[in-house]
Amino acid sequence: MTARPTLRQQTGAPAARILGFGSHQPDRVVTNDDLSQVMDTNDQWIRDRVGIIERRFGDKDELLVDFAVAAGAAALADAGVEPSEVDTLILPNCTMPTQIPNAAAQVAARIGIPNPGAFDLNAACAGFCYGLGVASDLIRAGSAKKALVIGAEKLTDAVDPTDRANAIIFADGAGAAVVGGSDEPGIGPVVWGSAGELVDLIYMRDGKYIYQEGQSVFRWATTQIAPIALRALEAAGLQPSDVDVLVPHQANLRIVESIAKKLRAKGAREDLVVADDIKYSGNTSSASIPMAIDHMRKAGTAKSGDVVLAVGFGAGLSYAGQAFILP
Ligand code: UT7
Repeated sequence: MTARPTLRQQTGAPAARILGFGSHQPDRVVTNDDLSQVMDTNDQWIRDRVGIIERRFGDKDELLVDFAVAAGAAALADAGVEPSEVDTLILPNCTMPTQIPNAAAQVAARIGIPNPGAFDLNAACAGFCYGLGVASDLIRAGSAKKALVIGAEKLTDAVDPTDRANAIIFADGAGAAVVGGSDEPGIGPVVWGSAGELVDLIYMRDGKYIYQEGQSVFRWATTQIAPIALRALEAAGLQPSDVDVLVPHQANLRIVESIAKKLRAKGAREDLVVADDIKYSGNTSSASIPMAIDHMRKAGTAKSGDVVLAVGFGAGLSYAGQAFILP
């Protein structure tokens, strides 16, 4: 009997870190007053209940893949990484209009990344944190050297434009991060999970438009997500007081503030910077976390070396969070 061959194994970099961020939004700004022209809503209600002042909607000929290409290219430029150096592209999204083809391979080709491993990842609004966790672990395992993670959505394709419960919340855009190997840990372990028994709280009704039981999702998010964020900190060996910037998924400013309040009750600092990008970007699902960070770095409210705690949550129901250091 011949001996069974031993499979060679590989190991990667000792750790992974984020090298750069980028984002893209369509030009068309839609205010609350614009929406009140076409549905029974008003500026005050939206500001008070959701925190949105304005958002961006793509036009008919602007596609999810267009947003992803722009955000991905911007992140590479920010990182000083050439497209030819990237070997893996992960594209979290939940609004790609086709299942075949996926978005990732065509986005890579348009950015000029030659033949990368490329796949879409659907964990809805938790998608970016899922994708970042996968990228970090691929790099540490030696399966990837440089990964581009792009959260991109065209939610206006997935929302009934006359449904005031959803049309005021969701918006379009993309946010991206470049991940590479490093000697020092720059990304903490991802803490992720799901509550599939609650699947009916957010889904595509008749496969066409998003339906959500807003109040139930709100209650779930304001009770279940702060503990996930705390577990992500613990997994990274950090204390709440170590966090400089908190970036929850931008679903509703009241949810964001509730998570921040719970973290401060556990020792997070009063000067903790809390992302409020929803005010001018709306809820962009898997794009919201990297887009918020890109905007905060550009505005100077988040800076190189800051410890970020990110946590995403949404349809599935799915959730994921991790701590990382800003480039
Ligand atoms: O990103 C994925 C995860 N999703 C989330 O995290 C979303 C979580 N849920 C939410 O953010 C909130 O539940 C919503 C923003 C979706 C809704 O806010 P709410 O404070 O829960 O409103 P509600 O549905 O309880 O409605 C309260 C009232 C109702 O009127 P009555 O019955 O009290 O007279 C609604 O008819 O507000 C009314 N209403 C509106 N009024 C003006 C509902 N939508 C609107 C609107 N404009 N757009």
